[in-house]
Amino acid sequence: MGPQVFRRIGLILGMSLAVAAWAGAAGTGGGPLTSHTPLLTPELKSRLAQADLDAGARYFERKCSQCHDGAKEGGHGKGPHLWNIMGRKAATAPGFVYSAAMKQAATTWSYATLDYYLADTERAIPDRAMNFSGIQDDQLRANVVAYLRTLNDAPPPLP
Ligand code: HEC
Repeated sequence: MGPQVFRRIGLILGMSLAVAAWAGAAGTGGGPLTSHTPLLTPELKSRLAQADLDAGARYFERKCSQCHDGAKEGGHGKGPHLWNIMGRKAATAPGFVYSAAMKQAATTWSYATLDYYLADTERAIPDRAMNFSGIQDDQLRANVVAYLRTLNDAPPPLP
């Protein structure tokens, strides 16, 4: 095989990687979390680096807190207590009764999985019991994910 062939293979590989990265970005492609693993893309990292925590907190207060308590000393409401959500396995807050779908999601909440879930909850976990469709605005969603990070005994480092 001549160098031409290798160049061509390299080009095809590069293109496949680009497509995979594109499909991994929230809002495009993907599927349920049982078969799709969202990636911590440079695009998501940069949204998190620019995140406006106050805006995330306000959004949480307005849209999430009717169902979720984010305070350390809080508890479950219609939705599970979200303290220490980052790094927690889905559907494992003691004492909350989750849907079968959430239990089967077999995911761990991370920057990538939270961003993906909150982009389109139906796509990520069909049949979930959370009556909230998602946050379409990419930066706003990153603001909320960055805020969720702070609801933690030991907030993990920003990526
Ligand atoms: C109308 C009520 C409601 C709203 C609004 C809501 N949630 Fe939920 N949420 C739930 C319920 C119920 C569940 C459990 C879902 C299940 O078991 O399928 C849940 C589950 C979750 C989980 C997974 C928790 C775990 O322990 O695995 C996260 C993360 C989450 N919600 C974040 C949010 C955020 C962030 C918002 C606001 C942007 C939000 N939710 C808005 C009701 C709600």
